[in-house]
Amino acid sequence: MKTFTNVMDIGDLSQALAEAQLIKKDRYQFEHLGKHKTCLLIFFNNSLRTRLSTQKAARNLGMDVIVLDVNQGAWKLETERGVIMDGDKSEHLLEAIPVMSNYCDIIGVRSFARFESREDDYTEKILNQFIKYSGKPVFSMEAATGHPLQAFADLITIEEHKRTQRPKVVLTWAPHPKALPQAVPNSFADWMNEADVDFVITHPEGYELDPKFVRGAKVEYDQKKAFEGAEFIYAKNWACPGVTNPADYGKVLSKDMSWTVDTEHMSWTNNAFFMHCLPVRRNMIVTDDVIEAPTSLVIPEAANREISATVVLKRLLESL
Ligand code: CP
Repeated sequence: MKTFTNVMDIGDLSQALAEAQLIKKDRYQFEHLGKHKTCLLIFFNNSLRTRLSTQKAARNLGMDVIVLDVNQGAWKLETERGVIMDGDKSEHLLEAIPVMSNYCDIIGVRSFARFESREDDYTEKILNQFIKYSGKPVFSMEAATGHPLQAFADLITIEEHKRTQRPKVVLTWAPHPKALPQAVPNSFADWMNEADVDFVITHPEGYELDPKFVRGAKVEYDQKKAFEGAEFIYAKNWACPGVTNPADYGKVLSKDMSWTVDTEHMSWTNNAFFMHCLPVRRNMIVTDDVIEAPTSLVIPEAANREISATVVLKRLLESL
């Protein structure tokens, strides 16, 4: 595996899930793979879980780790070609990428959607420049349109908790005060569509996700109907993806609090587990009692981020 940006990169999901369980039994068993190898983690945006779990994963595999927060201590980077650099940006990404790649063997990149241009975000302009110009294996730590390390951890968590062979899994939009990217719901859909689950997406009209990620999933606009029989509820906010109206891309079209996941919502389900990638705004996305209930999986999901990252880094190391 030379890049990790979506579900197709990981190949057979049963094999990937088996590898995750193998690593969970002894997370240091592949320590030899990373000897004298360096993993560079580049953050254009904030992070708690990804920052910590990916460093831990790299160390599980015996790697050295360098973390760079681009906006703290590095030269401010220009990312557009052709710009006259007479402003506050001192270095161009097109020099910075090959320079940084000299110091490492594998590169992780976090670069969120900027909501300036749907085309730039949906063509993954920043992540793809790292893939093109670094000459090193590159993995996404959440890019403009995908967060595959999170979706892989979510799948591991579902596999560990499912009560039926083919559980009903519902991705539900929930309200949030600010515009959030679609990376998490896109990747969740990307992975659930390839997993052995009955996958349903529910959201208010206007919040349709990109067809590239929805594929054959059922979309149900009635949240109550969607929740019926669900074994897993995955809540997430996202701003308008601009599928039906490109001019609305990145806008907050609704803050309808009737979509907040509370105990009444959970009573519509088949005693479902609650999931969210975190960080979460309590009593906007989910009420205190739902997130604190024994059926809340938010902490095991976060713990599985170390496991998904260890599998991915192991595969990238094996490709060197
Ligand atoms: N879920 C997730 O990616 O968390 P962070 O943004 O804190 O890394």
